[in-house]
Amino acid sequence: MGKSILVTGGAGYIGTHICVELIAAGHDAIVVDNLSRSLRGAIDRIAAVAGRPVEFVEADLRDADAMRSLFAERRIDAVIHLAGYKAVGESSSDPLLYYDNNVIGMIALCRAMADASVRTLVYSSSATVYGEPQFLPMTEDHPLSPTSPYGQCKLIGEMMLGDLQRSDPRWRIARLRYFNPVGAHESGMIGEDPRDAPNNLLPFVAQVAIGRRDQLTIFGDDYDTPDGTGVRDYIHVVDLARAHVRAVDTLADHEGLVTLNLGTGRGYSVRELVTAFERASGRTIPYRIAGRRAGDVGACYADPSSATRVLGWQAERDLHAMCADAWRWQSMNPRGYGGV
Ligand code: UFG
Repeated sequence: MGKSILVTGGAGYIGTHICVELIAAGHDAIVVDNLSRSLRGAIDRIAAVAGRPVEFVEADLRDADAMRSLFAERRIDAVIHLAGYKAVGESSSDPLLYYDNNVIGMIALCRAMADASVRTLVYSSSATVYGEPQFLPMTEDHPLSPTSPYGQCKLIGEMMLGDLQRSDPRWRIARLRYFNPVGAHESGMIGEDPRDAPNNLLPFVAQVAIGRRDQLTIFGDDYDTPDGTGVRDYIHVVDLARAHVRAVDTLADHEGLVTLNLGTGRGYSVRELVTAFERASGRTIPYRIAGRRAGDVGACYADPSSATRVLGWQAERDLHAMCADAWRWQSMNPRGYGGV
């Protein structure tokens, strides 16, 4: 039976894709977002792709009254919690902004859920909780040692949910550790819309391809990797979104706490990604090599087998699809959702 799922941060890059996949699977999506880093236009696009409107509530998770009425006024079966800031560099220069928004916001959300007896939660965590890789591929029992305030906030969120579930075993919680989400919905209607210069590789490459930026800077070609550039586990955002739907469905039958890597299990280098994007877009990506970016590691990729076992899910889309879909989104929406 279709469930009613609250998606916090549902106007963002990953949230929009999750809403579309929830609706495709027969669920209802309700978005709560404060639009501090996203645009209302994204909500209209979800409806256009999904063929069905989504309910949108503009509110901040830290607004206790708004959260209380959010849960009191509608049926909510489960929550997918994505809302939060995500720029690693910004988190280092303004850590309190991150602890306030990401940690306090999440405490407020969990409180509102507990008060409303909604105890099913899928949490957006990140491979960043692992820090410097001690072994590869990374399994979920890899030591946890984040290297930025952003990563610390993700880990604090994970710990909080672990404690919450132990305090009351009726909670059903999935902590999902994303590797590197990229790509866009194949319709070209929703995708990543960075407000400022993109921090992440793929949106930067896409903006170079469309002519918004002159060239890519490759941060380091002297890593201990096959071509010297950094290796990451890129995962198509639609595959990632479908894992959330599987998690909601799986939690409906299981009490408890699960922690799962979401990746493909395969790493690609910066150079490989640039070559794949050139092929998918038919454009040349000029680049220059610069020094390593502070805090970066040479290689990082997942062992995603737990997610396959627990959720019956695995990533299906390859690097070409990730680049082709990112390019379709970028070329159909050169200015994203139209923000300045
Ligand atoms: N890179 C460049 N040039 C750029 C941007 C990135 O060469 O302009 C390189 C990086 O050095 C790295 C690779 O491209 O080797 C991927 O970098 P991203 O910034 O796209 O991704 P990261 O792996 O650094 O970060 C991602 C998420 C974070 C998360 C982190 C931890 O964006 O939110 O993974 O796994 F914390």
